[in-house]
Amino acid sequence: MNVLVIGSGGREHALCWSLAASPLLSKLYCAPGNPGIAAVAECVPLAPSQADELVAFAKEHNIGFVVVGPEVPLIDGLADRFEAAGIKSLGPSAKGAILEGSKGFVKDLCEDFGIPSAKYRRFMEADGAKAFATTLGYPVVIKADGPAAGKGVIIAETKADADKAIDEIFGGAFGSAGNELVVEEYLDGEEASFFAITDGEDVLPLIGAQDHKRAFDGDKGLNTGGMGAYSPAPVLTPDVVEKTIERILKPTVRAMKERGRTYVGVLFAGLMIKDGEPKLIEFNCRFGDPETQVILPRLKSDLLTVLLAARDHVLDQIDLRWHDDVALTVVMAAKGYPGDYPKGSQIRGLEAAAKLPGVTIFHAGTAVKDGKIVANGGRVLNITATAKTVREARARAYAAVDAIDWPQGFCRRDIAWRALARNS
Ligand code: AMP
Ligand code: GLY
Repeated sequence: MNVLVIGSGGREHALCWSLAASPLLSKLYCAPGNPGIAAVAECVPLAPSQADELVAFAKEHNIGFVVVGPEVPLIDGLADRFEAAGIKSLGPSAKGAILEGSKGFVKDLCEDFGIPSAKYRRFMEADGAKAFATTLGYPVVIKADGPAAGKGVIIAETKADADKAIDEIFGGAFGSAGNELVVEEYLDGEEASFFAITDGEDVLPLIGAQDHKRAFDGDKGLNTGGMGAYSPAPVLTPDVVEKTIERILKPTVRAMKERGRTYVGVLFAGLMIKDGEPKLIEFNCRFGDPETQVILPRLKSDLLTVLLAARDHVLDQIDLRWHDDVALTVVMAAKGYPGDYPKGSQIRGLEAAAKLPGVTIFHAGTAVKDGKIVANGGRVLNITATAKTVREARARAYAAVDAIDWPQGFCRRDIAWRALARNS
């Protein structure tokens, strides 16, 4: 079978790397891909927004299955476009992707179906929002309803901060994503990501991971797309996982079906866990980035078989197998990220770093210029390592980071600090 992956980041590199090993695969394409992906797939110079061209390409190249990596094309209905053209596609329909497309929709669903989540209310005007925030107390969380590239969530420590955030959102800071907002109770606890895949009926739990959202060591600095991750996350005990599946994931899949929005695809639950009780912070309708870069190296089963089974509604036939090893990834980003950063600096030493034991390097934002690898984004490389323990996986990943010669880049040096703090 010919397979097309849509996207160009580290998540898509990890997806392609895993799919490339499938016995079901004939030829793998990735649009638009990146120089790392080019080692395992043929890159196609089409953007995720070019739906007409992508569908035409898929028809011409006899694509049997499409895997859409990022959320925006899913929310915009790219999976529906392929399906309408008779091409199987994984990723929810636009109707399903509302789980990531509207925070207010998810909050209402949680309330209606008893799914544990923070107290909230939805607003379309500022005065009511400000008054409700006061009743919750501070800190309080203000969220633009629509997708805002991870930037539409403000944790306001004071009334002044909350009022300012509300005015900014309604003032257009996040465009139409901020036509409506959610004011939400601040949840205390430890965050983790848990992943499942569903065919609309059955929920197949995958595994969890812990991301590091702030830019700098000690969880300081601005929020980013994620500066590193590791799996397993010790906070996701078997009991917490069981509660997540029974109280959050299964009821959501049932609720979506009941609402006429049958959800097929990856369901990524962002959780806050306190005293062994998980609450839902948010859903994403896709694999996480950088979480995928630590989940797929632990997967023993064939990824393509699993994804196809979800699309074909036969997930109950799948029995997943995982490696016991720990996987850890360090994001190397361009200095300046998540603010402005220059592009084009040369990265040396990648080949030597990739040869170190247990190390796999996923490209996130690179390009080739005059035959050399250069930085071409904010998050640029994901240095991933597997090992028997988190301590060893971390040592291996940082040994590879140190073998890379890229003065214009930076990374956090404390990935997996929570797991190590528990162990010692
Ligand atoms: P989201 O885009 O919904 O994942 O929010 C971004 C980040 O804001 C999350 O990863 C959390 O760290 C934080 N956050 C969101 N909602 C809450 C909440 N109700 N309580 C505490 N932190 C939150
Ligand atoms: N790492 C968080 C996300 O993929 O949204």
